[in-house]
Amino acid sequence: MTIATAHARPNIALIKYWGKRDEVLMLPQTGSLSMTLDILPTTTTVELTPAHEADTFILGGTTASQVETERVTRFLDLVRELAGSTTRATVRSRNEAPTAAGMASSAAGFAALAAAASAAYGLELDSRALSRLARRGSGSAARSVIDGFAVWHAGVDDETSFAEAVEAPPMRLVSVAVNAPRKKVSSRDAMRHTALTSPFHSAWVDSTARDLEEMQAACRAQDFTRIGELTESNALRMHAVTQSAQPAIRYLLPESIAVFNAVQELREGGLEAYATADAGPHVFVLTQPEDASAVSDALASLGEVRIAGPGLGVRIEGQGMSTQESGR
Ligand code: PMV
Repeated sequence: MTIATAHARPNIALIKYWGKRDEVLMLPQTGSLSMTLDILPTTTTVELTPAHEADTFILGGTTASQVETERVTRFLDLVRELAGSTTRATVRSRNEAPTAAGMASSAAGFAALAAAASAAYGLELDSRALSRLARRGSGSAARSVIDGFAVWHAGVDDETSFAEAVEAPPMRLVSVAVNAPRKKVSSRDAMRHTALTSPFHSAWVDSTARDLEEMQAACRAQDFTRIGELTESNALRMHAVTQSAQPAIRYLLPESIAVFNAVQELREGGLEAYATADAGPHVFVLTQPEDASAVSDALASLGEVRIAGPGLGVRIEGQGMSTQESGR
């Protein structure tokens, strides 16, 4: 195969990854746990172009910037190394999610790129190897390889840091896209800056490791209330640690805080809902399936709302099965 297309979707972490142990291998300081969404897909086609001297990256129909193209080339270099190839490629990618706005488009983007590129270069990777490869593009992409709920093990090296599926009770995430400008600090730079300058960073790492243990226990016990409490408090701690960096990084806007406040009021009124947000101003609200419409209606005045369920991990077009199902 010299051309392959893959589809991947964003994931939202219920226990967040914020800090790297190794920036080259993209090893996180702690594990994390997420839900892959069934909305906002990215479709990526990789076509080998032996006559070309450089890679080409077309994002949303337009030639991408030099910085974006270099990031794709660095990733393709990893795939080429694995495949023993020097052939350049053209990558065409379309995101339904707004790029760089805390909607996890990089997770879907690198999961799709990892799958399409490895297929185009003739690699046969199983789910674990694909998750490890996607991780090198964007850490959180390791989790978008997986269907539904995924735990990304921090691991101790390249081999042991990958995501795999976990059982969890039925849940929905209501996405509340607030009216906000493009984010200014990439999560990569912000993580490094937080680790270097926040006096609270080590407390964040220690408490997140504990949160992840508790979250996995709550998922096994199908304890939605505990899952929700851990989700919201872990997200607020992540935002607290970014705000404690010097200078501070603040992703949450007044519009985002309004959603957190409204969610607390919903809970006080007896509707179980819990808020989380990634490195951007948009908020995702965890609910049980039977409450999703009521939660979405209650938050509709605060942003553009959409209900997401657990979605599929990455898929290669034309191959009915995912790599994890086929056991390759
Ligand atoms: O994978 P990155 O570099 O886009 O970082 C993701 C960071 C968060 O979205 C804020 C948290 C997470 O675990 O997804």
